[in-house]
Amino acid sequence: MQVIAIASGKGGVGKTTTTHTLGWILSEKLNVLMLDLDPQCSLTACCNLSEAEGTIADVLATPSKLALAQAIRPLSKKLSMLPSSPELASLELSLSAKISRETIIKRMLATATGYDLCLIDCSPSTGLLVLNALTAANGVILPVVPEAMNLYALRSFLDVLDEIRATVNPGLQTVGTLVNFYNARSNHHQQALDEINRADIPVLGTVGRTIRIAEAVAAHEPITAYEAANDRSTEYKAIAKKVKQWLEKHN
Ligand SMILES: Nc1ncnc2c1ncn2[C@@H]1O[C@H](COP(=O)(O)OP(=O)(O)OP(=O)(O)O)[C@@H](O)[C@H]1O
Ligand SMILES: [Mg+2]
Repeated sequence: MQVIAIASGKGGVGKTTTTHTLGWILSEKLNVLMLDLDPQCSLTACCNLSEAEGTIADVLATPSKLALAQAIRPLSKKLSMLPSSPELASLELSLSAKISRETIIKRMLATATGYDLCLIDCSPSTGLLVLNALTAANGVILPVVPEAMNLYALRSFLDVLDEIRATVNPGLQTVGTLVNFYNARSNHHQQALDEINRADIPVLGTVGRTIRIAEAVAAHEPITAYEAANDRSTEYKAIAKKVKQWLEKHN
């Protein structure tokens, strides 16, 4: 199983939206597991799942309260989801005392069978859970808003990735950036995009702003199902195609 983390040091840049949308598109061909590794539980809410039937916090509890296979919920024939819970925040603190604490998610995912791909939705931090996601992953997608402040955050996150490669996960690749909320008519956005293009990392594509994305989330659907003809759907489909090519190349 290949593992891609969707991560950024910045909040609100589209990590959850990207995980959800790519999960649905890529599961047309692949068996995909989405993992909500954020105590905010946004992806869990996006998928209209409740915590009552068990979450990753139950799986990771000591002793474990639930087997991984029982916590994973099917969303469609080829798409499944491991939900999160706010408890994950306090669990993160207790996990920090464990031996090999950065490989907890990697070891958990090694027991998942029947999936081609796991997409991990990360929280906007560089804490232990994100470190775990980046240790378990063979690729990382970096959503970024093309504005100066976000570019500083991107640079420091790239430094974190270098540190991870130098220590716990030498094989970690950058699948690419996803430039979200892009407005082609803004000079500032264009300059920022030029700067991102000059960095030594692939740009998967741009996604413009549309209220339809929030509407799609409210309907628990990806934009590609909610309004297939929307330009944002076309953009996400093109990005998914590049992710699929990356997966084929790195399999
Ligand atoms: N291209 C877009 N156009 C309009 N709204 C968008 C777009 N992408 C994301 N959004 C909206 O922006 C908000 C933040 O997106 P999202 O939750 O995916 O970001 P995030 O990086 O996961 O945030 P957090 O860091 O809090 O986890 C959400 O309300 C989402 O619906
Ligand atoms: Mg999120």
